[in-house]
Amino acid sequence: MAEDRVTIFDTTLRDGEQSAGIGMTGDEKLEIARQLARLRVDVIEAGFAASSPGDFEAVSTIAREVKGPVIASLARAHPNDVDQAWEALKGGENPRIHVFLSSSDIHIMHQLHKNREEVMDLAVSMVGRAKKYCDNVEFSPMDATRTTPEYLYQLLKAVIDAGANTVNIADTVGYAIPSHFARLLTDIQENVPNMHRAVLSVHCHNDLGLAVSNSLAAVQAGARQVEGCINGIGERAGNASLEEIIMGIRTRQDVFQVATNVDTTQIYPTSRMVSRITGMSIQPNKSVIGENAFRHASGIHQDGILKERSTYELMDPVSIGWPGNALVLGKLSGRAGLRARLEALGYMLSRDELDGVFEAFKLLADKKHEVTDRDLESLMAEEKRAATEPITYTLDQIQFSGGDHDIATATVRILGPNEAVYSDAATGNGPVDAVCRAIERATGVGAKLADFNVRSVTEGLDSIGEVMVRVDQDGKVFTGRGASTDIIVASAKAYVSALNRLISQEGLDNVPEPLTTPD
Ligand code: KIV
Ligand code: ZN
Repeated sequence: MAEDRVTIFDTTLRDGEQSAGIGMTGDEKLEIARQLARLRVDVIEAGFAASSPGDFEAVSTIAREVKGPVIASLARAHPNDVDQAWEALKGGENPRIHVFLSSSDIHIMHQLHKNREEVMDLAVSMVGRAKKYCDNVEFSPMDATRTTPEYLYQLLKAVIDAGANTVNIADTVGYAIPSHFARLLTDIQENVPNMHRAVLSVHCHNDLGLAVSNSLAAVQAGARQVEGCINGIGERAGNASLEEIIMGIRTRQDVFQVATNVDTTQIYPTSRMVSRITGMSIQPNKSVIGENAFRHASGIHQDGILKERSTYELMDPVSIGWPGNALVLGKLSGRAGLRARLEALGYMLSRDELDGVFEAFKLLADKKHEVTDRDLESLMAEEKRAATEPITYTLDQIQFSGGDHDIATATVRILGPNEAVYSDAATGNGPVDAVCRAIERATGVGAKLADFNVRSVTEGLDSIGEVMVRVDQDGKVFTGRGASTDIIVASAKAYVSALNRLISQEGLDNVPEPLTTPD
């Protein structure tokens, strides 16, 4: 008998991107989509094509370039949305159009200003329109869990007749409770006569902290597609955490008796990548992928773990791709060790990229006894900044002196346009001030320091310090970042980076002559 499978539908790039404060570039979305394909999710919702030209482009690029999973675009029940979704998806091998429309009376009356019949007609006609383009169509009744059940059954029947292959029960506001949600899914299967012709899916939000519990209860009640986001990101309190659902199903096979196609060893790298790109950090005690998820503090637990891992560890960290501490990175480490660790952290590098990072890693390892995962993440952020930021000036050398009785003094050497080399010195009110003044003198560019922030990446005196500065010129604010084991060097890098942004924004022609002549 064929194994019963649950389709894993990832919406990190669509609902996940709706998290407050997140904005991903097209390249970042493609990087995540490629990693989701390595994770072997079944469906990637790449975006909402009609929502913006950027989203359209991202959906279209991912549909063309990412092989393996089905690539979906969301579409409101509007002809133009459905057409745009298809335009973006049509170059791909495995497209799906995902149409949604509210079905609860609260939404129908207050938001759509329609009646139930009008909603039903619109849903049927837009599913039909999508079906003409694409054989794979999903329909989501939005706010399904607050929809009158009898109306929901009729709506589901109608859209399945119109060609929907998947119907997705959206718990849009996180209203469901596991036992009630399971009952709703059972009732749907008993009351929608053509339900056997479509896959029953669920999409749960986490407003009451129940998104994963509701999704798992739904699987037990017969749902065969689950939607969610990596790290549980998403609108408001987020979506169901996909990694928790996947590991729940795998760890409690005795209960669920279903499989997924996921390569669970890719969970950790995917989670780190999503956290890095979205800037949404993961709470240390987060299930499955939190920093403390496999750390044992109590003596009794440590004793048990040393005797037999399974005494206090429900999952083997190796099964989610946790890099562990087996490999200590330091100055004797080679490229292979560095590459393995970076991949475990979600960085997939070409040979050339690895060569560049390896040089920076060696410099760091010379200064630090052990290079930790957080150090590597900071180093990779520096590399990315160097590759993507506008660069007019580069800090080449810096020297400073000071003390509680000495005048802080700094000398800098800066590489400028057309291979020019500038150097100058300045005194200041403390070493950071002296360094910034020396940079201003050397480059001839200056701005008011509006904000200055230092943070240590790891514990310990040899930790990397990350500095963020904001400079203000005539009311326009530019941000710069820098990292180093020396916070004065990190500050200088951050200041140069902010000035580079200022110069790029203002146009190179406006760069004043440096106060000093090139060497
Ligand atoms: O939460 C929701 O209802 C959605 C739908 C578009 C599926 O995200
Ligand atoms: Zn949602």
